[in-house]
Formats: sequence, structure tokens, C-alpha cells
Amino acid sequence: MKRSVIDILDLTPAELEELLATALDIIDNPEKYAHACAGKKLATLFFEPSTRTRLSFEAAMHELGGAVLSVTDAASSSASKGESVSDTAKVVSCYADIIAMRHPKEGAALVAARAASIPVINAGDGGHCHPTQTLADLLTIRRQKGAFSGLTIGLCGDLKFGRTVHSLINAMARYENNRFVLISPDELKLPSYVKKDVLAERGIPYEQTTSLEDAMPQLDVLYMTRVQKERFFNEEDYLRLKDSYILDMAKLKNAKDDLCIMHPLPRVNEIAVEVDDDPRACYFKQVLNGKYMRMALILKLLKEAAQ
Ligand code: CP
Repeated sequence: MKRSVIDILDLTPAELEELLATALDIIDNPEKYAHACAGKKLATLFFEPSTRTRLSFEAAMHELGGAVLSVTDAASSSASKGESVSDTAKVVSCYADIIAMRHPKEGAALVAARAASIPVINAGDGGHCHPTQTLADLLTIRRQKGAFSGLTIGLCGDLKFGRTVHSLINAMARYENNRFVLISPDELKLPSYVKKDVLAERGIPYEQTTSLEDAMPQLDVLYMTRVQKERFFNEEDYLRLKDSYILDMAKLKNAKDDLCIMHPLPRVNEIAVEVDDDPRACYFKQVLNGKYMRMALILKLLKEAAQ
């Protein structure tokens, strides 16, 4: 049966375990999966810029033996002539077996999923969510920390517009004994609907601070984020806030030895290049983990669609 993934909560914790197990098996036995999607086509419909997500979806499908059709920007598609997301999804359903879609508008992937006759994966919809980035994040946390429970997770930077942050909080809030430290300027605080509906509703402890240095000693995971220039209404505010946090070796002085430093990338200035050589830097591992999790998700949704 056709099924789409729009939000990380569309996947149960048991299904996340299944995807993690598949991804780990792909890492150990890539040859077993080399023809798993032979004869199948993935359409990547990206109406907003991307390097990692689009290329990792495409690499994932190639490594599964499938083919790829691609729209790389809105200007080169009939969206620029006014075609609706629904019509685009119906049309692409005639050519492909599965869609990965990025769009600047919140809810666009859901609209596409309702219109399409094939599975749709949300590859980022505005400031809303980015479930496959969360899959990459979860595999990274599992491989680095061994568990999803009992962690103090610091989220730093643009917590207002950062869709990866919203998806990760939703995912990690389902596990026991996690705490969140929300580090941001006042203007970029986590939206109150996430604080209220996800954290407060479940009694999950969290604190808000503007100081990365004060938060550092307690953190098991530090998730840095870019200030989302494309979601700002005026340039002046962006310029004032863009360099609010720059993680460098001096700021890591009081960090735990086994801190897991993450960033969904792209980075602008949020992490100094000198941090890249620190064994705690996990953001390029995160990129690779994203490809394996997208392979696992494509396999799962195509298998379910065939049943
Ligand atoms: N992390 C992420 O979504 O990167 P891209 O915008 O390059 O796809």
C-alpha cells in the first residue's frame, strides 16, 4: 500500500529501529542491496536549493540499482509557469515510483502526498520539518552514543526557523530521560508550539539560555544550526543575528570528552574549521549516515507500495 513520510512522527519507534537495522546492514553488506531497486525510479523534486539531501537521495537510489529523474530548481520546472504542487505530483506519478520533494512552503509535501499515486518523502518543507535529516541524525546518535535515552541534547542557533531542530526534538522526545538545552538569541527561540505541544505536554525537562559556554559542560550532544537567511523578512535582522554562535576549540574547553558535535549542514560560520579535526566532530559522518538511512527508507516505502 502507498505510504508517504511527511513528518518523522509518521514513523513509529519500531519502524525507526527497522530502518536503523537496515541502514547498518547496508553499511556492512552493500553488495546485498546493489540491485534491490532495479527497474524502479526515484523523482527528486527540489523547488529550493540543496546539496546533501538531493544528492544523497540520488546516490541512495543509484546504490540500490534504481534510476533517478530530477527537478533541481523551480525555475526549470513548470512550477515557474504556475503549475500547482498537486498537479506536479499527479504528473510525476506517471513517470516515477517514488518522490522525494523539497519545497519552500510548509505543507507542500503533504499536498503532494495527497495528490500522488506513489509514495512521497518530505525532503524539507519551509521551516516545518525535515524527517530524512532526522533519520541521518538518529543513525549518527545511535552510532556515536549507543542509545537514544538518558542524553542531554543542546540545540544551538536558529531554533525558530530550523526545521531540522523541530524534527529532531519530535523524534528524541519519544525516548526516556532525555533533556534539552535550547541555546539561541531571544529572537530565534524555539516556537512555543514545539515547547508546549512536544516538551511541556510530555513533561520533558528543558532549559533556555543564550550562552553556549554556560551550557557546554552538561551536553552529551551539541546540535549546531545555521541562521536560516532564506526565512528572514529583513536583511538587517539576519546580519545582526547570523554570527550569534561560532563553535571553536576555545568554546569546547569545558565540553565532555565524548560530546557528539552535530550540524545538519550547510554551515556558514557556526563551526570553525579548526573543530573539524576534533574526534568529537560528527557532522561529516552525519552526511554519510543520511545516505544509508535514505536507502533504507526508499526500500521500505517501495516494498510497502508493492504489497
Ligand atoms: N542538511 C540539508 O538539508 O542540506 P541541504 O540543504 O544541502 O540538502
